[in-house]
Amino acid sequence: MCKEKIFMKAFNLLITLLFYCFLQTACAQNVHTTDEPIAKIAAQDNVKFGFAVTYDGLKNSTNYQNIVKQNATTIVPENDLKWRWIHPDKNKYNFQKSDYIINYAVLNNMQARGHTLVWHAGIPQYVLNEKDPKNVEKLLRDHITTVVGRYKGKINSWDVINEVIHIKDNQPNGLRNSYWYQVLGEKYIDIAFDAAHKADPNAILVYNEWGVEHGSKSNVAKREAVLALIKRLKDRNVPIDGFGIQAHISTDGVKAIGDDLTKFIENLHNLGLKVYITELDVKDNNSASYTVPEAYNRFLDYALKSNNIDSVLVWGVFNKQNSNNNEIPQYLFDKGTGCNSSCVAVKEAFEND
Ligand code: G3I
Repeated sequence: MCKEKIFMKAFNLLITLLFYCFLQTACAQNVHTTDEPIAKIAAQDNVKFGFAVTYDGLKNSTNYQNIVKQNATTIVPENDLKWRWIHPDKNKYNFQKSDYIINYAVLNNMQARGHTLVWHAGIPQYVLNEKDPKNVEKLLRDHITTVVGRYKGKINSWDVINEVIHIKDNQPNGLRNSYWYQVLGEKYIDIAFDAAHKADPNAILVYNEWGVEHGSKSNVAKREAVLALIKRLKDRNVPIDGFGIQAHISTDGVKAIGDDLTKFIENLHNLGLKVYITELDVKDNNSASYTVPEAYNRFLDYALKSNNIDSVLVWGVFNKQNSNNNEIPQYLFDKGTGCNSSCVAVKEAFEND
């Protein structure tokens, strides 16, 4: 074969190859994976996805169960592990609903999170009546030992402390002036992590907080107090493993979310913590700038940019009937029609990461 023919053959082959590559790329761009379940799409970014769930939903609604089973790899009881619900009297524990939810996770190969051991809200009166520091420490340790111990090996991560910084309370280090703080001082935090660690040494122990998502003045001040608290805990060898960003956001507030959120997540990661988005939801306060789906998408874009998010949990499954009320958060699924436009926006945020 003459040189010219060989050249032409090679040239034609090259053109065919280039055309094939072009087609492949074009097709790949047109393939939408948004028909896939959310957890599957999130898993491509190494992020776990899930929901806060209710006992009633999981027990009584096949529709609810199907959405959860298809889309989640993690679930957390919305209320059923809170002190007031699970331990209403000194010698009485109600484990029926939490047992159901945690066993549901285990049976369906999902991880379970525990929310929450120590909170300023929902403390029963028999606890509030106790003011002696020794007795309060015993109450706290006994509660945590019993609850964490019961779910040892079943609950993968625990919100050990919830919402402990509240700058407006004007206490040293921005700590919230809660019942626990008033009786025990900052030490209550060390006690809680210590008791949880002893009850289940393999559980991931998390500090969960709200109001740290935005670049607003109050959120920035809270972030600083949060990071300082974590450093103090680390210096005292308190067994803290993770931080939960609640992320109850709004269409109006989301415009103040930007690169500083990504930076905050990196700061937490650099302190050796796993970072969770624990309670994501969006209220629609008729912002001129963002719709609810856009708000979900924008928040996740900045959070996922860090590449250091362990899990994203949305704080509910189905939209409530009156969810156009701007005080009621909007979720990703509608009864009957399923995955709504916010759900698609969440999938796109994971896809585009
Ligand atoms: O189930 C009872 C019902 O029987 C009763 O008739 C009714 C009357 O008020 O109350 C119902 O319980 C309510 C429960 O939600 C279920 O709807 C409680 O009063 C109400 O206090 C409880 O609110 C929960 C709130 O925490 C307080 O515990 C919300 O569901 C729950 O979404 C919310 O979750 C918190 C996180 O734990 C921490 N971060 C903020 C987040 C949102 O506020």
